[in-house]
Amino acid sequence: MKRRALIAGNWKMHTTVMDACHLAADIAGQCSGLLDRDVLLAPPFTVLSEVSHVIRESAVIVGAQNVCWEEKGAFTGEISPVMIRDAGGSAAIVGHSERRQIFHEDDALIGKRLRGALSFGLLTILCVGETLAEREEGRTFGIIEGQIRNGLAGVEAGQMAKVVIAYEPVWAIGTGKTASTEQAQEVHAFIRNLISAMYEKSIADQLRILYGGSVNQGNVDALMAQQDIDGALVGGAALNAESFGRIIHFR
Ligand code: 13P
Repeated sequence: MKRRALIAGNWKMHTTVMDACHLAADIAGQCSGLLDRDVLLAPPFTVLSEVSHVIRESAVIVGAQNVCWEEKGAFTGEISPVMIRDAGGSAAIVGHSERRQIFHEDDALIGKRLRGALSFGLLTILCVGETLAEREEGRTFGIIEGQIRNGLAGVEAGQMAKVVIAYEPVWAIGTGKTASTEQAQEVHAFIRNLISAMYEKSIADQLRILYGGSVNQGNVDALMAQQDIDGALVGGAALNAESFGRIIHFR
């Protein structure tokens, strides 16, 4: 089963308007001619419009780093799927480990965000991943299974075409300590089997599963060569046009 690769850059809480426009323009320029893969940028909300404008003549997809489930209302500090669309975005990330760990978002809240994003047609990346302590206690698969079953609760088979799962082991994020290709492939295969059991094999076969956690120009090729790794969710290395450029041109 050949799945279309997806390389996503999560800019986290970085970039002013000027930084963002330069970075997006440079990346869009490097994407021309790349027809066999998707490239997604997830800048901060404050620069979504500008980034969408800068990349408008490219195939780059723009997405938000989080999303509320309601169209509008009394949700101070939140951004709705309609607002993301209005700013030119067509995708969103939910359940990033920084949301889970720093802001105490739980599976129920993340599931709500995911269903809200899907109901407005956003391509939605659900992030999952175990902490170092959970891995050392041998609980990796149980943690991942819980995050996926709870996160996808109420998501119907017909909506799965718009879902992407990102496996980001917490211990590999921003630490320079990438999971080995074997460790990553093992969890990706587990996720695909789980989706097959929860839905059906054809949905699991089509699902794109990204790896995230210290992806860089030196390790991307080996990661992308794994059978069940369909893309990357890149943090630090996505803030530099040269390194992200090399990552999107993985071989
Ligand atoms: P780093 O690539 O900086 O480890 O961040 C990964 C990440 O959290 C992407 O969402």
